[in-house]
Amino acid sequence: MRADLRELVTRQVKAGAAVPAFTCYGADTALAVVAAAEALRLPVVLLVAPSSATAASGPKLIATLRHIADDSAVPVCVQLDHAKDEAVIRRGIDAGADAVLADGSHLPPEDNAAFVRRVRQFARPAGVVVEAELGSVPGAEDQAGAHSADMAGKTDPATVSPFLTASGAQLLACGVGNVHGLYRGEPALDWRLLAAIRAQAGDVPLVLHGASGLAETDLRAAASAGVGKVNVNTELRTAMLDAIERNIAACRSAGEDMLTLAGATASAADEVARHLLSVMADVSAPSAGMGVVRSPEPAQSG
Ligand code: 13P
Repeated sequence: MRADLRELVTRQVKAGAAVPAFTCYGADTALAVVAAAEALRLPVVLLVAPSSATAASGPKLIATLRHIADDSAVPVCVQLDHAKDEAVIRRGIDAGADAVLADGSHLPPEDNAAFVRRVRQFARPAGVVVEAELGSVPGAEDQAGAHSADMAGKTDPATVSPFLTASGAQLLACGVGNVHGLYRGEPALDWRLLAAIRAQAGDVPLVLHGASGLAETDLRAAASAGVGKVNVNTELRTAMLDAIERNIAACRSAGEDMLTLAGATASAADEVARHLLSVMADVSAPSAGMGVVRSPEPAQSG
């Protein structure tokens, strides 16, 4: 079922939880992620990478994910990730995206805010939620190089409140030592900085990109510190590519067996998604996810 990302994330934040968002390069990944969310009765976000959104087939992928989301038994949002171009965002909204990261993080803060404000103007009538990014998250979206957090890219808490007022952003992605792809050495999130950003962000939920490679303790701590959405890509890709590597030879020699290979990648994606969903809903914590958005058990027939 379709869901409003802002409302969903706000409810999870109040419960000390967060919604995981997974990059889906195709329908197979989205189906596996949504199946995991349905099994746990938890909401989830399907991310469309900028490389996918800007490809000629981008609108068809978005429409396909929209269909999977609408058909699901749990709240599912389809979000355009790191969209830097207004035309691509308009196209994505027309194709069925219900949230977008209007990414002006490469621009000076005033230009970033103006870009987000323009996107909000045409996104609002369509009911599309707009996330912004202030500061930057090093690393690439689609290839997992090893990166260390760049001090210069971290979000300056002093800029947060003026930026949110000027941009009207509904969610805020920030740089607190998080990186896309692999972490060089041990990840070291700057918790004091995150708390300072949280204090300046008012009721705007925070988003943590680059969640792959973070320890469960860090992920739980981020949710407790007011992060309402965590973005995951590399961990999912790695698990699916590992599954291909493990199964490809047997599948080839078993008469070009595509079904077994597809089953193996789907179950790898399912496993990663279940793990992250469980951790971010904090289901094993003593508070046992009080107030976490969880869909009701399906009615028993007979
Ligand atoms: P990772 O690839 O590090 O998980 O980052 C994903 C991400 O932040 C997508 O926006």
